[in-house]
Amino acid sequence: MVASFGDAALRGLKVVVSAGPTYEDIDPVRFIGNRSSGQMGFAIAEAAVQAGADVTLVAGPVSLPTPQGVTRRIDVRSAAQMRDAVVAASAQADIYIGAAAVGDYRPASVANQKIKKHDGAALVLHLAENPDILASLAAQTVRPFLVGFAAETHDVEQYARDKLQRKGLDMIAANQVGGGLGFEAADNALTLYWPEGVAELGRTSKTELAHQLVAKVAERYRAVRA
Ligand code: CTP
Ligand code: CA
Repeated sequence: MVASFGDAALRGLKVVVSAGPTYEDIDPVRFIGNRSSGQMGFAIAEAAVQAGADVTLVAGPVSLPTPQGVTRRIDVRSAAQMRDAVVAASAQADIYIGAAAVGDYRPASVANQKIKKHDGAALVLHLAENPDILASLAAQTVRPFLVGFAAETHDVEQYARDKLQRKGLDMIAANQVGGGLGFEAADNALTLYWPEGVAELGRTSKTELAHQLVAKVAERYRAVRA
């Protein structure tokens, strides 16, 4: 059973959703990536369309069809490309939902030829930190309502509340990864935190969770922006 939006909770609003991993190139044949299928973000984009929003989907490398009704899809590869696309799309947006698993680091330099092995010697990669997309949006004076994600293996609430505050977010969706939940799994469970509250979305399909998340985002958006 999928929750319905009788009241078209996001009608008239522009929503940007990021989804999937980012790939950070090492050389022409190798990259560093994050585990993310993009399913949760794509399900959120679809749920936002069904709630009446004009949706822009910024997708990292995933193999998923564009959900029906999404106004525009921008495909990117690296965190820097995702940041540029999200910042540009968010200039006119009311809500940004950052469901992407953005790579935290990239190789400090990209080799333009394939790196060859050298007689069993270890290879050392120097990594530079990537820009934080949510933090770039939060730093703007006019900014969309910001929703982040936090996938954690332990101390979920503590890390999620810390990210909510540190990144200046309006809401964060936290999930414990491992135990058949998160990443490639069809099911997930989320706990939503915002400055004054919390809501548990129990284990269910990513489609259903996306609908519940979007309904809560709409409710909180109306509470603080309308
Ligand atoms: N995020 C982002 N830009 C980055 C890294 C993360 O916008 N460069 C966003 C993610 O899309 C997510 C939220 O920040 O919505 C939290 O991501 P997460 O990886 O859990 O947090 P980090 O701040 O990167 O901390 P850490 O990985 O050390 O737990
Ligand atoms: Ca991270």
